[in-house]
Amino acid sequence: MKILFVASECAPFVKTGGLADVIGAVPKALAALDVEARVLLPAYPAFDALVASGETIWRSADLHGGAARLVACHAEGIELLLLDAPHLFARPGNIYLGQDGQDWPDNAQRFAALSFVAAQIATGALPDWQPDVVHAHDWQAGLVPAYLYAHKGTTPPCVLTIHNIAFQGLFDPSLISALGLSPALYTPEGIEYFGHIGFLKAGLAFADKITTVSPTYTRELMVPEFGMGLEGVMQARASDLSGILNGIDLEVWNPETDMDLVAPYSVRRLKPKAKNRAEVLRRFGLNDDQTGPLFCVVSRLTTQKGLDLLLEALPTLVARGAKLAVLGSGDKALEAGFVGAAHSYAGSVGVIIGYDEPLSHLMQGGSDAILIPSRFEPCGLTQLYGLRYGTIPVVARTGGLADTVIDANEAALTAKCATGVQFAPVTKAALEQAILRSCDLFDQPGVWSAMMRRAMRHPVGWDVSAGAYRDIYSEMIGAKSQRDG
Ligand code: ADP
Ligand code: GLC
Repeated sequence: MKILFVASECAPFVKTGGLADVIGAVPKALAALDVEARVLLPAYPAFDALVASGETIWRSADLHGGAARLVACHAEGIELLLLDAPHLFARPGNIYLGQDGQDWPDNAQRFAALSFVAAQIATGALPDWQPDVVHAHDWQAGLVPAYLYAHKGTTPPCVLTIHNIAFQGLFDPSLISALGLSPALYTPEGIEYFGHIGFLKAGLAFADKITTVSPTYTRELMVPEFGMGLEGVMQARASDLSGILNGIDLEVWNPETDMDLVAPYSVRRLKPKAKNRAEVLRRFGLNDDQTGPLFCVVSRLTTQKGLDLLLEALPTLVARGAKLAVLGSGDKALEAGFVGAAHSYAGSVGVIIGYDEPLSHLMQGGSDAILIPSRFEPCGLTQLYGLRYGTIPVVARTGGLADTVIDANEAALTAKCATGVQFAPVTKAALEQAILRSCDLFDQPGVWSAMMRRAMRHPVGWDVSAGAYRDIYSEMIGAKSQRDG
């Protein structure tokens, strides 16, 4: 079975969030199930060396204002198809934003180009390889099903995965013909979304199947509070919708072999975790006075992640003797809030603004708990890393956080199955209670270390979910061959 993945980021090459981790991991997990996945990505500058050494397999004289080609190569265990179109992708800095922090003004053309080329590959543009199924991810690949729908001949089926419905790719309808879309598609049943072209909306309208990244998020998307205006579309497509929980790459995230830790450890040998803890305290300028747990945050700093509530809850956390180490960047007001808190609570709260992959590993290795007070969270990966590293997740009961962490309530403690702490609703008061409850559990070393061991044994790999994707691909191929007679 041959699958074409279409996405805008992929770890370890280029990453702004969890989407990259997923795209970097699933193809490898599928390979173990005899499914061959190739990943189509824009050739950002991070790919320059690979583009130079790869093989050109397709060319276009004009793709939205410049020449383009596809370069095939193999790296980090992944088969890559890189869309080399310098006028669209050869730009320094963030892959979505210009130096001014605003979206690149031609993001519509950039990601329409990616989707258009995906549809070309799907319909036979490459002499040696044609996918049986296309797997498009998020709004950046949302036009793939629309281009396939408009294609005259037969096309492979397409599944769209929603990693985050908050990002919808909305653009001015005057772009319709420039993007090669028929004006006939601009209807509420098609690509139109409240007076805009909606790239994600287009994907939801025309994909054969839709998945999201956790079962709870799938249900949440049916209601206005979480559906962000697309709840009606989600309801209409409910019979084609499923929630497949994300996993993590167990080789990249392994406390026994992680080169970013100062001391490796395992579920049988937890003691060295203390050395990592000491290093995190040192890096963040925190006191080592053993008065409570060390919480960490590794996150984009945005409203989604609920970290404004954590700022409000800090007096409670500090008064209880806990410590907090924050690594993140994003919203300027939140950045300033945490930097200010690190001054006000010097020694108890430490902050590093920025993006630092090795440090994120050390923090998972050295913290006692990881705080994730998200207002919504399609899946979330940092709680999965926390579980794997025995760093107890303290999470809002929403989306994938609800599906992956077992709250240490009385029943779960009695049944010896708790792996973390959940709270709801997402308010300052509930977060404070969760922090205090975590501190109480931490004060009972036997209970806490049993929870750490259970967390570390909790299955967080990709095998089950990769199997679920394979089943969806098979189902779509079967349905298509029935349709085509
Ligand atoms: P989202 O995709 O919504 O940002 P996820 O939890 O799915 O949330 O994935 C976030 C990914 O980005 C994780 O791999 C996390 O470790 C990483 N990450 C987030 N912020 C930082 C940062 N400042 N430095 C390093 N890694 C980060
Ligand atoms: C999105 C979501 C996050 C999810 C990730 C990967 O960025 O915000 O919850 O884990 O995609 O699916």
